[in-house]
Amino acid sequence: MSKEHRVLTGITTTGVPHLGNLVGAVLPAIKASEQKNTKSFLFLADYHSLIKNSDSGLRNQSSFDIAACWLACGLDPQKVIFYRQSDIPHIFELAWILSCLSSKGLLNRAHAYKAAISENEAKKIRDIDKGINMGLFNYPILMAADILMFKADSVPVGQDQKQHIEMTRDIALKFNHQYGEILTIPEAVIDENTGILPGIDGRKMSKSYENTIPIFSSEDKLRKVVMKIQTNSLEPGEPKDSSDSNIFSIYKAISTKKNIEELNRLFLEGIAWGEAKNILFEELNSFLKPFQEEYNKIIKDKSFVEKILVEGSEKALSVSEPIIKDVRQAVGIQGFE
Ligand code: TRP
Repeated sequence: MSKEHRVLTGITTTGVPHLGNLVGAVLPAIKASEQKNTKSFLFLADYHSLIKNSDSGLRNQSSFDIAACWLACGLDPQKVIFYRQSDIPHIFELAWILSCLSSKGLLNRAHAYKAAISENEAKKIRDIDKGINMGLFNYPILMAADILMFKADSVPVGQDQKQHIEMTRDIALKFNHQYGEILTIPEAVIDENTGILPGIDGRKMSKSYENTIPIFSSEDKLRKVVMKIQTNSLEPGEPKDSSDSNIFSIYKAISTKKNIEELNRLFLEGIAWGEAKNILFEELNSFLKPFQEEYNKIIKDKSFVEKILVEGSEKALSVSEPIIKDVRQAVGIQGFE
């Protein structure tokens, strides 16, 4: 039998996923976890959230909301090892070991750090490192430890994370070269479609653009957001190009083939934008309803979510424990007899 293939990805615990995350990341990841011969690891990267956010209450709440969201969207804890990063101390131990063999120059080139420096430069601040904490600087190493700790073979991530996986590979190769072939060199899996869903203003749907469609809002709020989707100024009766419409792109991501064809026909017939929005709203509402109902049930039961994560961390620890032992031994941190 071939060795099981390990797929691992982390979710930074800030903000609850929106429709773009749901169709671009959450549902595909859940689907991928159902494949045979793969073992999926999915974790809440709660210590990563310390880099940007100092509100402890919010951090805890976000972690909970995100865990509830993934469970509501169909994550099966029997199939996926679902855990909190903070429950796996081995990750942080490995992060230190890796940081001692990563060159500072490598991290100087990390996008997130470079962007922070550029901001200071643009503001003509003399000290280019002003306001930049070591968490931000070291973040690619913590991410490498997240991945290498479980000998992940592939890591599905968005395009923006590609550099971090390359750094992880560099660091792992260096470790293996220095201490022996222990770590697995992971591959990034970049879904070209991820993130293509437009937001209500036509740019990529993203929290930072404030153009998202929420997943767990009330029907009223959802309707209001849909009504705000930008369109062109074509009048009712004028034929419309579905390939150039935010309404259509969003509809396409959540609807059935038959309905999509039908809406395309209505576009060619010159449907009024208001009517197209109503159709999208109805479709979205019924697409999201089952997730919402499940979510509302789950958030009432904190201990249910806690129990799943504790069980997940036990499974994760049983994987990380033997690996960290090998790593310690390889670097010569061990007992004397
Ligand atoms: N940094 C990732 C993001 O912001 C989240 C993350 C943390 C992650 N650790 C990881 C993703 C390990 C994949 C593997 O999206």
